[in-house]
Amino acid sequence: MLPKPVITEIEDLHRIYRRRVPKMFYDYCQSGSWTEQTFRENETDFDLIRLRQRVAVDMEGRSTATTMAGRDVAMPVALAPVGLTGMQHADGEILAAKAAEAFGVPYCLSTMSICSIEDVAEATTAPFWFQLYVMRDEKFVDATLARAKAAGCDTLVLTLDLQILGQRHKDIKNGLSAPPKLTPASIANMATKVGWGRDMLRTKRRFFGNIVGHAEGVGDASSLSSWTAEQFDPQLDWDKVKRIADKWEGKLVLKGILDADDAEMALQVGADAIVVSNHGGRQLDGALSSIRMLPEIVDRVGSRIEVWMDGGVRSGQDVLKAVALGARGVMIGRAYIYGLGAMGEAGVTAALEVIRKELDTTMALCGEKDVHALGPHNLLVPKGFRGEWEEHRTNA
Ligand SMILES: Cc1cc2nc3c(=O)[nH]c(=O)nc-3n(C[C@H](O)[C@H](O)[C@H](O)COP(=O)(O)O)c2cc1C
Repeated sequence: MLPKPVITEIEDLHRIYRRRVPKMFYDYCQSGSWTEQTFRENETDFDLIRLRQRVAVDMEGRSTATTMAGRDVAMPVALAPVGLTGMQHADGEILAAKAAEAFGVPYCLSTMSICSIEDVAEATTAPFWFQLYVMRDEKFVDATLARAKAAGCDTLVLTLDLQILGQRHKDIKNGLSAPPKLTPASIANMATKVGWGRDMLRTKRRFFGNIVGHAEGVGDASSLSSWTAEQFDPQLDWDKVKRIADKWEGKLVLKGILDADDAEMALQVGADAIVVSNHGGRQLDGALSSIRMLPEIVDRVGSRIEVWMDGGVRSGQDVLKAVALGARGVMIGRAYIYGLGAMGEAGVTAALEVIRKELDTTMALCGEKDVHALGPHNLLVPKGFRGEWEEHRTNA
């Protein structure tokens, strides 16, 4: 038997993940659109911010606990919605939701998941969150919201930045699909991913579980790809957002806000929280990183609505920086997918543990005991971090 890997950082999980999962799904996760500038800068912009070391401060009895949209959380982190999670590991959505529940952080299920809303509800007891992409087929949208409600989802995360798909070169070249298309190249690659394949053969969940059998005219995966291309509603506007907001009785989170003017609009439709996000650099390549946009948006709406962020969070230090800049919490995408692909449920737990330990230790070394006390006073932010591009905005 191979020795159990020692996991001390997210990158350990990333390395195992890369070896275990077929290239098509690894590439799907580990890429951004076009030149990948925004994808890269989401991570590297965190490095520009430094931490202020404080000493001789009583650091006994620290707490990372807080709330996000009214939910008690063990730390200010939620698992972001990630499409095709069940292709990164068999039954991936169920495993990630279980790990999140045991850890005490929220799990958000994607519309484009492999396990269905009902599958996840059956395997968990804590309410999970549901992420919606707005489709042209209103009947499908209404029925999906009703299913989420019936499954006990108390929070709707409405994603606003993907009505048209940003182009990721690798997905086109790999012929990304679920289940994977069998070509000589994909068969040759999958043949080397023995553990992944063994688990995948044991599950029946290999299609988009929220869509196949639920949307009119979608009986299998081949009709699904054309359905998706046709169905994401390019006419989504604030009136439609408002209609969905009015229909949904639970908490509402608007995800994909990267501009202070849009944050104002989110307030007007009655959202409980917004996620400052560029979809992990997968949509508008060339947009600024989320962490760079965060302070301006916090300044504008932070006293009136919970502001969260996602994009590039790979450590507890990153979480601390985002919270110190005014985020109530963060969502993590790739950081937990690496864990899931590497080691299933145990890998997601490992990712969360790494992040909590880093956050806790970093808080202590910054002289803070309570996550709510974090603020700009903990950071050294380079001049121009938030202002370099502002001139273009005001001159426009
Ligand atoms: C492989 C992958 C699939 C994603 N699928 C969805 C999705 O179905 N719905 C959604 O709202 N966001 C989706 N996202 C975006 C994430 O919710 C989140 O915004 C992003 O991953 C944050 O960046 P990070 O991965 O650097 O943490 C996806 C991201 C990745 C990496």
